[in-house]
Amino acid sequence: MQDKVNLLLENAKKEVAALQSSRELADLKVKYLGKTGEVTALLKGMKDIPSEKRAEFGKTVNVLKEQVAALFEEKATALKKEEMLKSFEKDAVDITLDGKKVSFGNLHPLNIVRNKVIDAFIGMGFEVFEGPELELDYYCFQALNIPKDHPARDMQDTFYISDNVVLRTHTSPGQVRVMEKKKPPIKILSPGRVYRADDDASHSPMFHQIEGLVVDKGITLCDLKGILDEFVQIMFDKDTKTRLRPSYFPFTEPSVEVDVTCSECHGKGCKLCKGTGWIEILGAGIVNKKVLENCGIDSDEYSGLAFGLGIERTTMIKYGVPDIRTLFENDVRFLKQFGRK
Ligand code: DAH
Repeated sequence: MQDKVNLLLENAKKEVAALQSSRELADLKVKYLGKTGEVTALLKGMKDIPSEKRAEFGKTVNVLKEQVAALFEEKATALKKEEMLKSFEKDAVDITLDGKKVSFGNLHPLNIVRNKVIDAFIGMGFEVFEGPELELDYYCFQALNIPKDHPARDMQDTFYISDNVVLRTHTSPGQVRVMEKKKPPIKILSPGRVYRADDDASHSPMFHQIEGLVVDKGITLCDLKGILDEFVQIMFDKDTKTRLRPSYFPFTEPSVEVDVTCSECHGKGCKLCKGTGWIEILGAGIVNKKVLENCGIDSDEYSGLAFGLGIERTTMIKYGVPDIRTLFENDVRFLKQFGRK
């Protein structure tokens, strides 16, 4: 009997020692200690043992059972440790490696500039009004003192949809739409897409403008200059200056062209400003009395200032973009330059 027990223990020791994984261990444990296992089988044989030897037999088999269980327990702990160390090795992270770069998207430069312009004017109390892109000839031209067949129409190459409907050539019709509905004081900004049959390095058939309009009692060119000075300092550098030059627009009288000191050379003269130190940024003026009257506003009581700014032009000046077409090609190598660094 003892020989049988010793043999079983020896075999168990050998087999447990040869185990390679926790899974193998579980199978082997069943072979020895499971319901139909070898040790269990010995215990079941108790009934065939003569009663006087039964107590000793029982003791021997129980000791064996404990020894075999201890063997498995010991091995299980050792295997677990081994397997843990192996997994640490396998999943090890080299903390000296560079991290993976996460690339962020970013706003299109035109949207960056548009938002910045709107923010600057909202800070000065302007409200945003958006007019339609498909516009009646009346709002786009006639109400702005550009009658049908008038030579001033040649200033803008218009896409006509029909005799009375056009793709708006500027955001100025927004002025009329607001003045028709609202009584002064008025202080609005009207951003949006505009269209002209024009296509070269500095013109695109579709581009963006932002219109500004202030109507109140006693508005003068000084107010215009003050507002624009504040704006260019927010948009460009703190030391940026503006200069007004006489110009002509049918909807303003007087009309001016507004220049800013060159953002590249700060007024010294460079390639970007063609050596003049100044860059033209927008058209503006005092709202023509006829336009106020067309909108039912008493031009003896009220006066207004207006300006129209090209977003593409402002973007090109701000970032030194030489060709307007790069703004629409959507080449990510170009667009990425405006993202977070
Ligand atoms: N609408 C003009 C254009 O597209 C720009 C402009 C000039 C707007 C003078 C104005 C203004 O409001 O007063 O060329």
